Amino acid sequence: MILVTGGAGFIGVNFVKYLSKFNTDIVALDNLSIPTGTKNIKSIKQKNFHFVKGSLLNKKILQKIFTKYKPICIVNFAAETHVDRSISNPKNFINSNIIGLFNLLEISKNYFAKLESSKKRSFKFLHISTDEVYGSLKKKDISFKETNKYYPNSPYSASKAAADHLVYAWYKTYNFPSLITNCSNNYGPYQYYEKLIPLTILKALNGENIPIYGSGKQVRDWLYVYDHCSAIHKVLKKGKKGETYNIGGNNQQTNLETVSMICGYLDKVYPRKDNKSYKDQITFVKDRPGHDFRYAVNNNKIKRELNWKPKYSFSHGIKLTVDWYLSNMDWLESSKNKKFKKWEISHYK
Ligand code: TYD
Repeated sequence: MILVTGGAGFIGVNFVKYLSKFNTDIVALDNLSIPTGTKNIKSIKQKNFHFVKGSLLNKKILQKIFTKYKPICIVNFAAETHVDRSISNPKNFINSNIIGLFNLLEISKNYFAKLESSKKRSFKFLHISTDEVYGSLKKKDISFKETNKYYPNSPYSASKAAADHLVYAWYKTYNFPSLITNCSNNYGPYQYYEKLIPLTILKALNGENIPIYGSGKQVRDWLYVYDHCSAIHKVLKKGKKGETYNIGGNNQQTNLETVSMICGYLDKVYPRKDNKSYKDQITFVKDRPGHDFRYAVNNNKIKRELNWKPKYSFSHGIKLTVDWYLSNMDWLESSKNKKFKKWEISHYK
């Protein structure tokens, strides 16, 4: 039995679907804080799938899950993840990403201590983190390695950095069998529209301005979510306890390039009624405060030690992604919610 926390979120739901090939028993926990969460859970059709609504801040629910489902593996996706929201409301990030993670670690550690030795050997706690903990790179700096120092710049990345330190400390101090993965920017089906790629698709199709922060020259290393899922699966099977693995997509490009590629593909498959390009909707807006210039991940360790590499080029992955959103416009539209309007207004003008 695998416990997937954050199982209704973007990467969580993709990971649960990815596991369907392996006939694994899964219990997902999610607080359904993102408006698309319920739809995401309903889209999971696997038989051996269970869902529990709850937050990492609710220790009673966590305890019940361990008692009832007896997981042998935990994958912790549950986190607040959007940088802009962390700027306007950091408290949620401290609560979910640090206190919530601490609760999960404590309950998992106590549960692990009581397991019989054969189960102890197979038990793994995998904490999913981000490359943003390493800070920002300049144009020509070499990519982030696992040995890089942590230099988080946003409330979001600082909360993830704190969580990573806790996970590692639990391994070192209590011999708790944890591992960490730090991934680059993910994209793909089911990503909530606050992030650059689904936001670009939604705004383009709605005939609205597509906002690019600052110069648009910032660089991100895009990882197709399916590649991320296959990497996590490899780490669960073969990863060494106490280790960290960086996961990147080998797709570094500027935000302007990313948005232009999406517009170019939409022009082909879903042309505007006036036959002009969606690129005309691109609008440069005020920059994000403390905006990290560049992230790039060095994949050598996971390639060498676990024989994993990403399969999707950006041009392939983005076609699959845009096609998915075009076939699921109701999903994208329903993700718009008043609760999330506030940050949008404060950051785009
Ligand atoms: P985002 O998807 O928020 O991910 P992250 O901040 O974790 O990298 O943003 C990706 C990049 O796109 C980042 O450099 C900020 C930029 N961006 C825009 O230019 N406009 C937008 O509307 C958004 C949401 C992001």
